[in-house]
Amino acid sequence: MNSFYYYNPTKLVFGKDSVSKLTEYLPKDVKKILLHYGGGSIKKTGLYDQVMALLEEKDVEVLELPGVVPNPKLSLVRQGVKLCKEEGVDFILAVGGGSVIDSAKGIAAGVYAQEDVWDLYVEGEALEKALPIGVVLTIPATGSESSNATVISNEETKQKLGLEDDLLRPVFAILNPELTLTLPERQTFAGIVDILSHVMERYFTNTENVELTDNLCEGTMRAVISNAYRLLKNPNDYDARAEIMLSGTIAHSGILGLGREEDWASHRIGHEITALYGTTHGVTLSMIFPAWMKYVYKENIDRFARFARQVFDIHDNSKTDDEIALMGISAFEGFLRDIHIPTRLKDEGIPYDEFETMAEKCTKNGSVGKFVKINRDDVINILELAK
Ligand code: NZQ
Ligand code: ZN
Repeated sequence: MNSFYYYNPTKLVFGKDSVSKLTEYLPKDVKKILLHYGGGSIKKTGLYDQVMALLEEKDVEVLELPGVVPNPKLSLVRQGVKLCKEEGVDFILAVGGGSVIDSAKGIAAGVYAQEDVWDLYVEGEALEKALPIGVVLTIPATGSESSNATVISNEETKQKLGLEDDLLRPVFAILNPELTLTLPERQTFAGIVDILSHVMERYFTNTENVELTDNLCEGTMRAVISNAYRLLKNPNDYDARAEIMLSGTIAHSGILGLGREEDWASHRIGHEITALYGTTHGVTLSMIFPAWMKYVYKENIDRFARFARQVFDIHDNSKTDDEIALMGISAFEGFLRDIHIPTRLKDEGIPYDEFETMAEKCTKNGSVGKFVKINRDDVINILELAK
């Protein structure tokens, strides 16, 4: 196990009645809140009215900045930074999914930056200060509700970059699984792919003697997969929604990666697809992860055979570990097909003419990934396998 430092201050408030407790968790000295949200789902579901009514009971002023789109844009982050500076906002409340939360984190970081907020994403240097943020989560997927990361798309340069800093971890995250009952099927299952991917980016490691986190990863993956099947049968199954919501938060809270080297090549390649084509994040992962697995599994067959046995219950003494590993990858692809999320670029209408551009962009520092270092040509080969 490797040495590590871990810090996660986010208070998790979970359950059917959790939104009603919102103001209990607001820091006491907050005077002016920026309410940040997306394209309107929270108005349709009544969540907006509930949140506004709760805030009205408190002695706080509320400014609103709606309009966050999936794969949130730099232009709105810049607008938010300007608004917060001009108005002296002291807390940001993000009500929505990963895109809203990431946009809120971008604003929170940008308010105290000497330079333009985009430079923070490009340079990736440690932040000195950020506005505190709180979250009411409406889609389990990214884990941004308690992660230290924000991912923003620059519309002008067609880059999608992340920024990680513990100052960006929310003060609290309100998790009511009932809020996820209104999600369209594709969002539910693309979110589930993202959750599984966050576990897999940590699970596929060459770090040895990490039995505890191996087991936590395997248990989380099994729980996500079995509850995904429950949701396929009945999207209104509260208990399955609850399991998925908690899994999403756990998967990217950092706990599952403690003491392990993490990979993240599939995410980096996926971000390049989104940067060019606007593809839903979880869908990029369901196209890239199986291709990445086929490309790298021979580097550590034991790990992939363990994945097959522990996550997909594949046990056959007549097979070699190599064969078991491949059966595990097929089982994973079978799961993705069962939940109707595309596993090939062609299924999503992604053209094949920008592989080199994507490969160059994500390997401009040499390579991506740790399990296997993936260079420019490797990225092209993985994209070829994903066709
Ligand atoms: O905008 P509204 O109208 O709210 O609609 C949203 C949006 O269209 C809708 N939605 C959300 N909750 C709903 C709902 N519709 C009905 N009922 C509800 N309860 O769902 C759509 C997608 O929302 P979005 O926030 O984009 O989804 P997600 O949570 O998957 O976030 C994706 C973004 O997060 C980044 C991704 O790259 C992507 O940009 N990630 C952030 C991470 C982090 N900060 O730690 C890690 C991840 O790996 C990921 O990169
Ligand atoms: Zn992700």
